[in-house]
Amino acid sequence: MKKVLLFASGGGSNVKAILQYFENNKRVSFPIIICNKANAGVIDIAKQYSIDVLLLDKERFQSEILVDTLEYFKPDLLVLAGFLWKIPDFLIRAFPNKIVNIHPSLLPKFGGKGMYGHFVHEAVVANRESESGISIHLVNEQYDEGTILLQKTVAISSNDSADMVASKVLRLEHEWYAKVIESLLF
Ligand code: GAR
Repeated sequence: MKKVLLFASGGGSNVKAILQYFENNKRVSFPIIICNKANAGVIDIAKQYSIDVLLLDKERFQSEILVDTLEYFKPDLLVLAGFLWKIPDFLIRAFPNKIVNIHPSLLPKFGGKGMYGHFVHEAVVANRESESGISIHLVNEQYDEGTILLQKTVAISSNDSADMVASKVLRLEHEWYAKVIESLLF
């Protein structure tokens, strides 16, 4: 049985797409969702799937005791799905090449500190890009700079709003993230 720890801060649509994809797969389990916001939509999704939520404040997230907490689950993969805090270096060292992230742009474009969620799509529109997309990458010590595992693009038209770009990109996220996770596990 492969074990995947999910990390999410927001609405959790990626978490939902991942859980749906693996719903009938008895070889993968999701023992816990790590979340940093008490009112995040992802908590309802966790309830729907009867998955425990580990709600962490910044102090607990930055304490090395977290390694023991996570190692208890013997995870094969840590999956960031809209998780907006930077992963501390001690976690990256504890789980080398086992932490994967999805970013809603074609990295290295529109990545780095402060570039998340709608800020990314607003910057894409302001820059009059003709395409955007997703980047699924391993996490290293630098924000959004780990090895890229997969990128997919989508065309942007000149009158697309940031919200329209967001929904096009989110569709790609839902289509591809679970497949990449599966390929990393097996
Ligand atoms: C997703 O678009 C994800 O790519 C982005 O947050 C959104 C979460 O949506 N992540 C980042 O911007 C990370 N830098 P969700 O909560 O509906 O899955």
